[in-house]
Parts: sequence; structure tokens; C-alpha cells
Amino acid sequence: MFIGREEELNFLEDRYNSADGQLVVLYGRRRVGKTELLRQFCQDKEHIFYTCTEIIDEKQLEAFSQRLLEKNQQAAKYITRFSDWEQALLSISELAKEKKIVVVIDEFPYMVKGNNA
Ligand SMILES: Nc1ncnc2c1ncn2[C@@H]1O[C@H](COP(=O)(O)OP(=O)(O)OP(=O)(O)O)[C@@H](O)[C@H]1O
Ligand SMILES: [Mg+2]
Repeated sequence: MFIGREEELNFLEDRYNSADGQLVVLYGRRRVGKTELLRQFCQDKEHIFYTCTEIIDEKQLEAFSQRLLEKNQQAAKYITRFSDWEQALLSISELAKEKKIVVVIDEFPYMVKGNNA
């Protein structure tokens, strides 16, 4: 059962209701409830929830691409993965033109570990 976090949920809801795209960086101690908060927030919204794992960059991009392409049927007809991170991230802005979408990248340090750039 999810408890409390009203202030944090309201903050995210405000950002979500903004007319522009928003980037929110959520950080905090281990086990403080970051993932749970984001899952709760996404529940009733169109979303992609990607959890990074400690794998080589190429595999990370492949896994992230797959999650993005599940929501992008048009692109999925032609490709099975994005050629680089820039293309993958650009595709999010394409997606967002059609409908509002929340993209969560959890455990982000693992993504950075595989690719400092
Ligand atoms: N608001 C909440 N209500 C009830 N249980 C919660 C809440 N937030 C977190 N928990 C529980 O506390 C534990 C830790 O939460 P969570 O995994 O979200 O933390 P985290 O900050 O993402 O941790 P990590 O840094 O290891 O990724 C989980 O078992 C989760 O279900
Ligand atoms: Mg977590």
C-alpha cells in the first residue's frame, strides 16, 4: 500500500500539467522511496518506465530503444533499435507531439556508467 508523499506527488503533477516539456531529476538516499513514488505517479498516465541495469552501453541502448519503440508503432515498422542515444532521446520528443507522455529513467547512474558522454 502506498502511503503519503502528497507534496512530492503534487509537485510532479504540477510539472506534468505544464504546457512545456519538463525534465525532473529525482535523487535521494537509497531505499527512501524514489522508485515507488515514480511508479505511483505514472500509474494513471501514459508512460514508459525504464530501469537501467549494469550492462554495457550497447545493451542499455538496445533495451531502452525497445521500451521506446513499444510506444512508437510508426518507427517500430522500420527499426528494432536506435542507432545512438541522441536518436533515442530525440524520438521521445517525437512521441510527445502526439500525446503527453511520462518517460522515467530509473537507476540513471547505471546508464552513465556505461557511457560517460
Ligand atoms: N510511499 C510509500 N508507501 C509505502 N511503501 C513505500 C513507499 N515508498 C517506498 N516504499 C517501500 O519502501 C521500499 C523502498 O522504496 P523504493 O524501492 O522506492 O526506494 P528507492 O529510493 O527507489 O531505493 P533505491 O535507491 O535502492 O533505488 C520498497 O519496498 C517500497 O515498496
Ligand atoms: Mg529505486
